[in-house]
Amino acid sequence: MADAQTRRRVETLRVEIEAHRYRYYVLSDPSVTDAEFDVLLRELQELEAQHPELDHPDSPTHKVGAPPAGAFGEVRHRQPMLSLDNAFSFDELKRWAERNERMLEGARIRYTCELKIDGVAISVTYVNGRFEQAVTRGDGRTGENVTNNVRTIANVPDYLAVEDPPALLEARGEVFFPVAEFEQMNQDREDAGEARFANPRNAASGALRQKDPQKTAKRPLRLICHGAGAVQGLDARTHGAFLEWLGRAELPVAEQTRTFDALDEIRDFIEYWRAHRHDPIYELDGVVVKIDDVGMQRRLGNTSHGPRWAIAFKYPPEEQQTKLIDIFVNVGRTGKVTPFASFEPVLVAGSTLQLATLHNEDQARMKDVRPGDTIIVRKAGDVIPEVVGPVLPLRPEEVEKAGPWQFPKTCPFCGSPIERLEGEAASFCTNIDCPNRLLESLAHFASRGAMDIEGLGYETAKLLRDTGLVDNLADIYRLTAAGLLALEGFAERKVEMLLSGIEASKQQPLERLLIALNIRMIGGTVARIIARHFGTMDAIRAATVEDVANISGVGPTRAAALRSFLDNPSSQGLLDDLASLGLRMDTETTRVGDGLAGWTVVVTGNLEGFTRDEAKQAIEDRGGKATGSVSKKTSVVVVGADPGTAKITKAEELGVAMTDESGFVRLLESGTLS
Ligand code: IVH
Repeated sequence: MADAQTRRRVETLRVEIEAHRYRYYVLSDPSVTDAEFDVLLRELQELEAQHPELDHPDSPTHKVGAPPAGAFGEVRHRQPMLSLDNAFSFDELKRWAERNERMLEGARIRYTCELKIDGVAISVTYVNGRFEQAVTRGDGRTGENVTNNVRTIANVPDYLAVEDPPALLEARGEVFFPVAEFEQMNQDREDAGEARFANPRNAASGALRQKDPQKTAKRPLRLICHGAGAVQGLDARTHGAFLEWLGRAELPVAEQTRTFDALDEIRDFIEYWRAHRHDPIYELDGVVVKIDDVGMQRRLGNTSHGPRWAIAFKYPPEEQQTKLIDIFVNVGRTGKVTPFASFEPVLVAGSTLQLATLHNEDQARMKDVRPGDTIIVRKAGDVIPEVVGPVLPLRPEEVEKAGPWQFPKTCPFCGSPIERLEGEAASFCTNIDCPNRLLESLAHFASRGAMDIEGLGYETAKLLRDTGLVDNLADIYRLTAAGLLALEGFAERKVEMLLSGIEASKQQPLERLLIALNIRMIGGTVARIIARHFGTMDAIRAATVEDVANISGVGPTRAAALRSFLDNPSSQGLLDDLASLGLRMDTETTRVGDGLAGWTVVVTGNLEGFTRDEAKQAIEDRGGKATGSVSKKTSVVVVGADPGTAKITKAEELGVAMTDESGFVRLLESGTLS
């Protein structure tokens, strides 16, 4: 028998879970992440399993979704739209498979594996081949009628493309907002000073619930079907065959679906998509494993929550909640002031995060996260961690009363005024000698991609600044052994190493020096183009803004930023000093001809004989253009080991030529692919 404490816990969990369901399904404004919800549900399931006397048909563990919000007409599903049980480890998946084997008495089971699309569940009905109705899941029994909105979705056909359509077909699937378009939309909203959408799923859900279908039509929503509801006049023996039929009828199905015999193959599929989670055009949060044989599915049947013949293997979430401790600002190497959030450490998609940028004053104001708030942080793939926003229902009263966080008016490092130029999003510390700016610019100057000074990392830069040995970049070349030996922790060998690193850096070519000088908007690629074009620092200093702006790949904004740096008397003094201290002021000509003039080359994956930079350089040295994304303009995609599947799919779609590393070498040597 369960003790009183367990009973209370079960009750608390039920109340809490129902409240979360209401916020998620009815208000479209969840206050916990999916992962946190899963943890609560799992705890309740386990308690009910240990104490069957506490289980109850009304428990949220037996429910799917929540009743429809009521803005649209309600429709009762012909067959309930169920949910799925989750597995969070391979062991759990194995136990599920073993149970299937026991229940099916050792029959040979084949499994279909699909990506678990993080979208909005939908049921689309075709009567005699004609699109009739689309309904959201709602509470699984009754959903919202979103027919007119779903009708506007580009890949939802009006008619099934088969000669003899079934009398009734209810296809189940997910409506999603493609990630690239979602990011573009958020960027546009940000540029227009509007708040960003939290994630593609919320954006899809919002677009589906527009009262005016024309508004839905403006959103790039897509559907992918993954199952069946009520069907009359169509008999598929396996799930795979059913999906194939859907594809023939021109209903959209996922191209990544595969069928396997062995658990090891399923594990490989799961691991492959864990590593390639961001390749598909939609967000995915796991893999759904389904028994392929429809007869076996029927024998296993459903629980009130979901089918016994399918399970969702969930990947770790990319969004988590945490507590915002404070917001600080940093002053970077160009003087730019960037606000950032400092929060309690939290594990997101495999990395522990505790800091995330808030970009600039407008972004910080729009997100309106305040110290003491519970916030959602997100890290998707290689994307830098970001603060999605506050969880408003959890905002403490005193935090609400305190009002929004204020962007500082003075620099926290030197007290000088912070200035924001008209029409620009960024703010700057007005003091060119700001100690933090000096530290950041020293560290960047010495870094790998810039002057590459061995022995001069961030900590040494800090020490040199704090002891006053270095007050500006040129002082690096005035350091002496005697001065350095007086520093704590600097013995003879370390001093020798640093001085020889400094000496060697004097030979870095002009492009490296340009990168190192901390000029706004002048990064590696542009620095290389400018250095190659002019050849010497004197020629750059003598050039007009137009001269620079007219170079392909540079443009007026960067040209103006360069000119403003060169016109500044303190930069002029610095450049004169660096020249008289013996730094090289011209470029290495690596140009080896025009064999690739007119070629645009994309390299994806790892090459054995080239780093990414070397491959880029080799292309540019021959007059070609190296870019990062495949488009109609791409001449060839060079495919190395472990390539990006999105790039390959795009190249296939557009009919762009592809080659391997040896083809790339031939291309460099001969200027042709044959
Ligand atoms: S099969 C009887 N397959 O995930 C339920 N569901 O968390 C069969 N989902 O309710 C569902 N991708 O809305 C299935 N490839 C996929 C899926 C998928 C996403 C959604 C679906 C389901 C939810 C469960």
